[in-house]
Amino acid sequence: MKIAVLGASGLVGRTMLDVLSSCPWVDEPPRLLVSERSAGRRLAFRDRELVCEEVSDKALADLDVLLCSAGRVAAARWAPVAAQAGALVVDNSSCFRMDPDVPLVVPEVNPCPAWAPGSGGRLIANPNCSTIQIAAFAAVLQETCGLDELHAVTLQAVSGAGQRALDAWRDQRTGRDGAGAEVFPRPIVDNVLPAIGPAQRDGSFEEEAKVVRELRRILGRSDDLRVSCTAVRVPVHTGHCAALRCLLPQPVDRQRILKALAARPHMVPAPDAHAFTTPREIQGSRDVHVGRLRVDPGNPHALLAWVVADNLLKGAAWNAVQIVESCLGVGPTGAAG
Ligand SMILES: NC(=O)c1ccc[n+]([C@@H]2O[C@H](COP(=O)([O-])OP(=O)(O)OC[C@H]3O[C@@H](n4cnc5c(N)ncnc54)[C@H](OP(=O)(O)O)[C@@H]3O)[C@@H](O)[C@H]2O)c1
Repeated sequence: MKIAVLGASGLVGRTMLDVLSSCPWVDEPPRLLVSERSAGRRLAFRDRELVCEEVSDKALADLDVLLCSAGRVAAARWAPVAAQAGALVVDNSSCFRMDPDVPLVVPEVNPCPAWAPGSGGRLIANPNCSTIQIAAFAAVLQETCGLDELHAVTLQAVSGAGQRALDAWRDQRTGRDGAGAEVFPRPIVDNVLPAIGPAQRDGSFEEEAKVVRELRRILGRSDDLRVSCTAVRVPVHTGHCAALRCLLPQPVDRQRILKALAARPHMVPAPDAHAFTTPREIQGSRDVHVGRLRVDPGNPHALLAWVVADNLLKGAAWNAVQIVESCLGVGPTGAAG
C-alpha cells in the first residue's frame, strides 16, 4: 500500500506516523511530504528513519492513500491533485468539510462506503477536533432517545492550534509574555481565552461556527437540531474537554443511555455521576471518555455530560486512519464497520 502523509513534520502529521506504525496493514513506509521549510528533515517510522520531501505533483502521482494535515491552503492546492491521480485522500483541514460532494466522517457515526486501490480517487474530510468527540457522543443520544438541542462549552488544549502554538506557550511559560501574538489573542499562560479563530458576524468565533455546522452535517440534521458552542482555549498541552447540555424529546433515562454508550466501540463511559477523566489522564488514548453523566436537576429532559478526548488522536490522526481502515475494510475499524 503506497501511503503518503502531507504535513508529516507537524503535530498531527507526526501523530499519524505513530498511528500508522501500529497498523499491520501498512506494509511499506509512508512517504513524508512537507513544505520546502522542512524538506530533508528526518523522522522515525518503526525502526527506520525517513526523510521528508517537498510536496509536488510528482510525489502525489502514484499513491493509494494520502493523509493530509497541512492546513487549508496546502489542502486546497494538493488534495485534489492526489484524488485526481486516483488516491483515497483524507484531509484534516476545514477546506472541504462543508463541500456536499465530500463526505465528513466520524467512522462510528457515519461510516464511509468501501474503496479499493485502483477504483478511482476519492476525497474525504476529517471533522474539526472538538466536533469529532461531541458527534461521537451525540450520535448515541440521537439513536437511543432522540436529540432536540445540544449546548457545548469546549475547553481546548494548546496543541489543537499546532506546533507554533505549543512553541509560543512554552516561550510564554519562560517569561516571554508577548510570544505567540499571532496564535493567541491574549497570553495563554495562567489564562483561558474564549476566542478561537477569526470573529464571525453573528457574534461567534470561527471554531464555534465549525462545531455547529459540522455537528449538524455529521448527524444528518439541519436547523431542527439547535446547537450552540462556546469554545475556550485553555493552558493544557493536549486533550480537549466538552461540557455538554443535551435536551431530549423525552425524560432522560440515564441507565439506558449509559448502556448504549458502553456498547459503542471506542467510547468509555463512567457509570458514576461524579466520575470524570481529565486531559492529562487520556493523553495517548484513542477513545472518547464520558464522565459526569447526570440529569439536569432543573429539567428532567436535559442530560449533562463531560466528554474528553485526545485532540491529536481521536480529534485528528486516529480518526483519519479509522476512515482509511473503514474504506479499505482493514484493521479493527474496517472489520467492525
Ligand atoms: N492540532 C490538532 O489538534 C488538530 C486537530 C484536528 C485538525 N487539525 C488540522 O490539521 C492540520 C495540521 O495541524 P497541525 O496541528 O499538525 O499543524 P502544524 O503543527 O502547524 O503542522 C503543519 C504541517 O503542515 C505543513 N505545511 C504547512 N503549509 C504547507 C504547504 N504550503 N505545503 C506543504 N506542507 C505545508 C507543515 O510543513 P513544514 O514543517 O514544512 O512547515 C507541517 O508539517 C490543520 O489543518 C489543522 O487545522 C489539527
